[in-house]
Amino acid sequence: MRYLNKSESYLIPQRLLFIPLKETIIFPCVVAPIFVQSDEALILLNKVILENSLVGCVGQREPNIRDPQPKDLLSVGTVCRILQLVKLPNKGMKIVVEGLQRVFLQNITHEAPYFKADIKEVNEYHENTILSEILVQSIGTLFKVSLSMGKPLPEEALKALDKIDQPGKLADMIAITLHLGLRDQQEVLETIDPLERLKKVFDHFNREIQSFPTRPNGLIHPGKEAGRFQKEHSFRPSLRGQKEGPEDDPYLAEISDLREKIRTTGMPQKVKEIADKEINRLERMNPVSAEYTVSRTYLDYLITMPWDKKSVDNLDLGRARTILNEDHYDLEKVKDRILEFLAVKKLKESMKGPILCFVGPPGVGKTSLGRSIARALERKFIRISLGGVRDEAEIRGHRRTYVGSLPGRIIQEIRRAEASNPVFMLDEVDKIGQDIRGDPAAALLEALDPEQNFSFTDHYLDVPFDLSHVLFITTANTLLPIPPALLDRMEVIHLSGYTEEEKEKIAFQFLIPHQKEENGLKDYPLAFTPDAVYKIIREYTREAGVRNLEREIATLCRKIAKEVAMEHSPKMEMNEAGVEELLGPRKFYREVAQERDRIGVATGLAWTENGGDIIFIETSKMKGDKGLILTGSLGEVMKESAQAALSYIRANALSLDIPENFYQECDIHIHVPAGATPKDGPSAGITIAAAVLSLLRGKPIPHEMAMTGELTLSGRVLPVGGIKEKILAARRAGVKTVILPKKNEENLSDIPDYVKKEMSFVLVEHIQEVLDLTLSS
Ligand SMILES: Nc1ncnc2c1ncn2[C@@H]1O[C@H](COP(=O)(O)OP(=O)(O)OP(=O)(O)O)[C@@H](O)[C@H]1O
Ligand SMILES: [Mg+2]
Repeated sequence: MRYLNKSESYLIPQRLLFIPLKETIIFPCVVAPIFVQSDEALILLNKVILENSLVGCVGQREPNIRDPQPKDLLSVGTVCRILQLVKLPNKGMKIVVEGLQRVFLQNITHEAPYFKADIKEVNEYHENTILSEILVQSIGTLFKVSLSMGKPLPEEALKALDKIDQPGKLADMIAITLHLGLRDQQEVLETIDPLERLKKVFDHFNREIQSFPTRPNGLIHPGKEAGRFQKEHSFRPSLRGQKEGPEDDPYLAEISDLREKIRTTGMPQKVKEIADKEINRLERMNPVSAEYTVSRTYLDYLITMPWDKKSVDNLDLGRARTILNEDHYDLEKVKDRILEFLAVKKLKESMKGPILCFVGPPGVGKTSLGRSIARALERKFIRISLGGVRDEAEIRGHRRTYVGSLPGRIIQEIRRAEASNPVFMLDEVDKIGQDIRGDPAAALLEALDPEQNFSFTDHYLDVPFDLSHVLFITTANTLLPIPPALLDRMEVIHLSGYTEEEKEKIAFQFLIPHQKEENGLKDYPLAFTPDAVYKIIREYTREAGVRNLEREIATLCRKIAKEVAMEHSPKMEMNEAGVEELLGPRKFYREVAQERDRIGVATGLAWTENGGDIIFIETSKMKGDKGLILTGSLGEVMKESAQAALSYIRANALSLDIPENFYQECDIHIHVPAGATPKDGPSAGITIAAAVLSLLRGKPIPHEMAMTGELTLSGRVLPVGGIKEKILAARRAGVKTVILPKKNEENLSDIPDYVKKEMSFVLVEHIQEVLDLTLSS
């Protein structure tokens, strides 16, 4: 198994099932239906869906061969994802597939009615050259020409023009909009070299335009060499010379159409002036030039931006509360905060003010709260993820210098929303990057800051756009990496992880009904038992939120749906045995409950952006000379904690009941076993001290005890963060007793009573108390 494509994560197996296609070719990037009649075919496909929903499609050289053999297939096929299965009324099924990637087929074997083949990746590597740029530009021009001739082109195809640095992909996307015969399609698919492929598609496109009925003669030079083509065409002036009216000249018609639009879309006066100027420029340009395309696309943006379009807010707070409750279990504090926020907006009648920022571990409902707010306000909802955005241009756009330049994501999305006051969710503000290509956070600040965002200037748009009516909501897993200037503008609302009990309620009230509906089981009496839900929570997920819980429930529903669809009448009660049967062996164990007491090992609690986690601190001692070995990729702060803990023990050896010179002839090794948990921060101080002392005294620490707290050299225990997440993680892992700094006492008020009843919490001020507790027996 391997990843084929970095931006999308699908794993394709070495060997794949291929469906032979008689009359069509499925290109990568196309979504198309295939029809299946026979029962064996269906059974095979069902197996595929259970595995990973990937299947191959491969063209047949001759469409009229009824019973194709491996030699009748093309050597290149397409790996596809199965998107949908629809049962047809009489017999058979329609399968909707999405082409993902071009591959070579090798070692083909016949498995009636399909084939199996090894897959070899197709390397579409390509370097930008002048020729490729010119080709892309010329194709852009052909687009404009065919558009203005009234040939309808899907929007997708227009977007393809942005694929300036992926000529292969561009070629594919255009190929599917052309009326190519099967042979030509096969040829395009089998042309591996991206530039060659683009050339072929260019020629076909060119030919198609030439044969278009309203074609003015000699419009495009049919030559193969794109450079020559660019130089030789001189279409515009000749037409001008003939003094034709707008009705005859598609370009003049287009321009007068644009003028009309500029007049009627409610642009601010200043923008109108700029648009007028641009159109005057456009008029003088050669329509077959790249410049024309740039200018034309720019005008499109100016015309279609929702300058004065707004949706009307629904500020009925009672209704807002109902909606928030309909979509989310509990989260009372958060909902109250949101309602207060809306109330203030209502009274002030302007939507200016702080930006909301939801912070919490994954899957606790941050994004979905944003969606609910939009629903409550009856505004459009937009969501973009800032994860990994490094380039300032992604926020603020590119200057209009080449065919592919585009506005930033904010302006693009606002245009798509067709309203200037959407709820705009910016996910993962904590993951925003920074490098030589500028500082996206600074650009973001400009977009978010109510003091300046009424005239946000995107480099592409080049005229200010008023963002002050947009309701921005950001989300983050942790506040630490957010630049202070940005954080300062935000009103932070914390969401923490859920207890098992809360998860169970969320499952029954939201996730299960939702997934039943999603999987077409709404009218079936499928019911989960509480034990089954707990089993999924404990044995198949380990998380603070409910995202994986939802995913596992979805898997179960899908499997039942399949049984129903195949008329196997499955059991409609989902109990523990059913869960195990369908989800396979358990994925997680309660780490602590499974442990035993060990000398020199202590259980600590860590806070990470994914919620809480437990860590084991292991120590051992060997002959040596006062060495301290630290392993397990610890961060600086954690290393210092370890040194401080050891120094404390050495300084107080006598009172701690260990030989004063214990360190003379030995090395001490402290190790925190690897795992996904980042290991830094001061909160393991007392845990390290406890582990070392356990080692030196040769006494184990009870394994169901966990601790967190910073240690000073004088032995005081200082408070630490993330208490609720840590306690929830401890409980998930089966910990019974948690030792916490006394100063964190107030954080216990966030812990539900049923958790407090089940676990015991000991509050300490000095390390001596920790040692007494852990090593007393
Ligand atoms: N309190 C809740 N009540 C009902 N459903 C919930 C609740 N919390 C989360 N969910 C559901 O869990 C799923 C995941 O939530 P969501 O996508 O909002 O997570 P998130 O907090 O945005 O996570 P991430 O940080 O990974 O983006 C959604 O389907 C959501 O509806
Ligand atoms: Mg989210």
